[in-house]
Amino acid sequence: MKKKLIAGNWKMNGGLAANEALIRNLLAGLGTPGCQVALCVPTAYLAQCHDLLNGTGIDLGAQDVSQHEAGAFTGEISCAMLKEFGARYCLVGHSERRQYHAETDTVVALKAQRALASGITPIVCVGETLAEREAGRTEEVVKRQLAAVIHANGHCISEIVLAYEPVWAIGTGKTASAEQAQQVHAVLRAQLKAASSQSDRILLLYGGSMNPVNAAQLLAQADIDGGLIGGASLKAPDFLSIIASAG
Ligand code: 13P
Repeated sequence: MKKKLIAGNWKMNGGLAANEALIRNLLAGLGTPGCQVALCVPTAYLAQCHDLLNGTGIDLGAQDVSQHEAGAFTGEISCAMLKEFGARYCLVGHSERRQYHAETDTVVALKAQRALASGITPIVCVGETLAEREAGRTEEVVKRQLAAVIHANGHCISEIVLAYEPVWAIGTGKTASAEQAQQVHAVLRAQLKAASSQSDRILLLYGGSMNPVNAAQLLAQADIDGGLIGGASLKAPDFLSIIASAG
């Protein structure tokens, strides 16, 4: 059976002292986890976190990457740069990028393609807004978002990690129920299966107010292979508790 993945997304939080304390506390309590663990940290702290995590059981991830290889793209970070700091993962198409930085399905697909070509595993995020859910458009929206990534990546799609993050559940304390999450995961799983004979290896993460209380039930669902954790990844005891639920 494939090991689950618990990935923290620190978002735009942290500082040199706070990062070090958090990572030291995580490492002190981690033991030998029964799942894979990763931290997606702000770009500015990749070097620091690389030093602190190198050789530990925790993998390093970034939160975004440019779809371009190199050149005149002021402010952007390339896959090659992420690689130099040991990033194994990169979030791609997080709803906050889609919402606040106008990232389209096409851009997200190109970013995933660039990451895959560079040996970085993209954690591709999909999810519907509250208005879309209430309009009964959840399936249509997540399938459209995933279809763009499948279309651009062909058989390489089996190398991605996919995260379902309902936008209405992010940072709101409103978690999708285990049934709601599983329902969408099953739809995504079927779409991946139709696209690739290797789809079984793709990890499907749930994200959106996952916490120590609801993690076990979400992670017990048939098509939920892990979690993408925002707020709770900033508190070592909470993140460790979620990791323990996945083990
Ligand atoms: P929260 O866990 O804070 O709801 O954030 C989820 C998320 O967006 C992770 O990428």
